[in-house]
Amino acid sequence: MADKLGFGIIGCGVIAPWHAKSILDIPEARLVGVCDVIPEKADALAAQSGGVKAWYGHEALLSDPEVDAVCVCVPSGLHAAVGVDAAHAGKHVLSEKPLDVTLEHMDALISACDQSQVRLGCIFQRRTQRLWQAVREAVQGGKLGKLILADAYMKYYRSQAYYDSAGWRGTWELDGGGALMNQGVHCVDLVRWIAGDPVSVYARCGHFARSIEVEDTACAIVEYSSGAMGVIEGTTSVYNGMDHRLEFHGETGNILVDGARIVRWETEDGSGPPDDLVPEDGQASAQPTDIGIENHRAQIKDFAQSVLGGRSPIVSGKEARGAVELILGIYKSSELRQSVSFPL
Ligand SMILES: NC(=O)c1ccc[n+]([C@@H]2O[C@H](COP(=O)([O-])OP(=O)(O)OC[C@H]3O[C@@H](n4cnc5c(N)ncnc54)[C@H](O)[C@@H]3O)[C@@H](O)[C@H]2O)c1
Repeated sequence: MADKLGFGIIGCGVIAPWHAKSILDIPEARLVGVCDVIPEKADALAAQSGGVKAWYGHEALLSDPEVDAVCVCVPSGLHAAVGVDAAHAGKHVLSEKPLDVTLEHMDALISACDQSQVRLGCIFQRRTQRLWQAVREAVQGGKLGKLILADAYMKYYRSQAYYDSAGWRGTWELDGGGALMNQGVHCVDLVRWIAGDPVSVYARCGHFARSIEVEDTACAIVEYSSGAMGVIEGTTSVYNGMDHRLEFHGETGNILVDGARIVRWETEDGSGPPDDLVPEDGQASAQPTDIGIENHRAQIKDFAQSVLGGRSPIVSGKEARGAVELILGIYKSSELRQSVSFPL
């Protein structure tokens, strides 16, 4: 393989420009082309990205030998189907979050990539941030002592117009869920990454304000393998939306983060947050496009380096599966109106 990884982007909707700009910025990567089933969308992104190739279906993109890896930016319930095709074509796969929306789809994708010996990564861009890495190091390094509570509150706003903006949004089949599976999945991933795998969950979900199939609001109580328990609350229906809050409390310390701002970091041993934290971009609490490019760029750079260097990416497919499993457990608990144990 050359010293630059040749990327193709599959799906040219809202998030695709973050991938295109990132790839164009990264010395280890080269953008070969983009595709969409709507030709005008592929043509527009190809033109904006310096006149790269445009295809009108992912099969054509996958048959180009210059494409070594693909960014999967199609609706969530199609990630595995497209990713499996890419793996069979020998291309490395970097999926947008969530990895897919069912365990069966995710497992098929993970196994296709294993069998074809290609790398599989999933965008959870906040995992590249020093802030969240530092919170994890502190919690898992025992700075808070025995972890008692790990909470994630995601009180966001998405209008009905947002849900109506594309036919797949708010559907079980292609969005796979709502406030949690789409918007909340980032913080569900973080809380699981920091507090450990879930052991059980008890939850209620519903739609209170939006005309959609899936939940616009969910509340869950989770027990983690670390011994902690905690709350996961997600909504897309509250006035204005607000930045998420993640809160970790132990016997010897507390860490509270609001958006990307540390509002409390206190430990019995006096150790504070690291001093190399950089200010963070938007949190998409009310607008899906209110996010900076730095974290996508960092994760796509890591993926290119992982393929070129023969190592696992920062968020592998197997790692990314965990957040979706936890959310599916929340949905199952709500449907059954009883507690659910993991693994599902
Ligand atoms: N990481 C983040 O912060 C972030 C932000 C927004 C969206 N996303 C994720 O990105 C994915 C896409 O979201 P979006 O908001 O860009 O959606 P979108 O509807 O704006 O774009 C999806 C595009 O995929 C195209 N498409 C569908 N099937 C295709 C196929 N088989 N081949 C080629 N193109 C196909 C559609 O025509 C559409 O243009 C979702 O899974 C979403 O969860 C992630």
